[in-house]
Formats: sequence, C-alpha cells, structure tokens
Amino acid sequence: MKIFLDTANLGEIRRFNEMGLLDGITTNPTLLFREGKDPHDTMRQIASLVRGDVSLEVVSTDYEGMLEEGRRLRSCGNNVVVKVPMTSEGLRACRTLTAEGIPVNVTLVFSPNQAILAAKAGARYVSPFIGRLDDIGQDGMELVETIMEIFAQYEFDTQVLVASVRHPIHVVEAARLGAHVVTLPPKVLDRMLLHPLTDLGLESFLNDWKHLQDSPKP
Ligand code: E4P
Repeated sequence: MKIFLDTANLGEIRRFNEMGLLDGITTNPTLLFREGKDPHDTMRQIASLVRGDVSLEVVSTDYEGMLEEGRRLRSCGNNVVVKVPMTSEGLRACRTLTAEGIPVNVTLVFSPNQAILAAKAGARYVSPFIGRLDDIGQDGMELVETIMEIFAQYEFDTQVLVASVRHPIHVVEAARLGAHVVTLPPKVLDRMLLHPLTDLGLESFLNDWKHLQDSPKP
C-alpha cells in the first residue's frame, strides 16, 4: 500500500520525505488556504520536492476550465496528477486529460456508483472520503470495501486512494482491504510511528546501558 501525505505544508513534506516514507502527496484548496502562501508557488514547490505522484486540484467547475487548469497544473511537473471533482464535467475532463496522457484523481467520492463512473472515465485514482462519511454516521470503510470488491471483478487500472483519513485505525483497515493508497494528514502519520511500549523499552535499554557503564567491572 502506498502512503501519500495529505498536506500543502512544505516543512511536513520535507520531514517525512527525509524518513523515506512518502510515495506521493495530495493537496486541496483548503490545505493550500491553511498555509496562507501563494498557492501556485506552493504547488510548484511540492511537485519538485516529491518524486511520486502529486495531486493538484482544479477549482474550475466547467469542462473547458478544468482542461485549461489541468494542463497548467501539469506544467508544474511530470509527477502531477490533476484532481477533478466527481461531477459530470469532472468525468468529461478526466476522460480528455487521461487521453492526453495527464493522469487524473477523481475526488469527493462518496458512493460505489461514483467510483465505478470514475474508473470508467479512466481515472488513475478514485478518492473515497471515509472520514467525512463517518462524520455523518455512515461507515466510510464499508465504502472502501465495496469499491475494492467491485474493482476486483474487472480490469480497471484505477487505484483506490483512501482519503479523509482521521486516525491510524483507518490506515490498518484500509491496508487489510488491500486499498492501493492511503493519504494521511501529518498528525496521523506521526501517530502511526508511536507505541508507549517502544518508548518504555528504549528508556529501559538506555538506563541499563548507563548502569553498565557506571558499574565496576571485574
Ligand atoms: C484528499 O485528497 C483530500 O485532500 C483529503 O483527504 C480531505 O480530507 P478531510 O475530509 O480531512 O478534509
């Protein structure tokens, strides 16, 4: 399973990149807004920092606008995947951009039917937003399970990119279902690293090593 970071924060991208953990990045207009910088410059920098796929989202809602914007975003780097919303115009743009050799991530997917249509339109990635479904009392992971089950029956090249991840258990569940990618906010990736027994174990090893140095040797 590939791990993408869901952020527009350059510092966080550098930090996890140095650990060798990142297979790609997803961004969206909200994440760019939170950084408070020039979004075009930030998107260009992200594309050059990371070797894997970087999803950059269009803000146009009409077909022509999405094409024009998608081509422009792609000029930020050959690793750019154009993110389009799951709308009829978005699917049209997905079909055209894909035919031009520009990969597409269809975002804001909340049902198996939407995932099927995105795959039929040739998307490289389909992004079910599981946390937002959980938020309204539906089971986000059940959607991932259904999409994986459907995609396994056919020869779609589309990868399931589990988005809107809120906590590490989402990651384990996505991995058990064989999802191709999870995109994680930095805080979730940080939490995945931690276990109290690791900290306690390390502390006790280091203490014993210190006692060994301090104790007289025969
Ligand atoms: C994915 O591509 C989106 O950027 C993201 O996962 C949305 O997550 P949210 O529901 O936490 O905003």
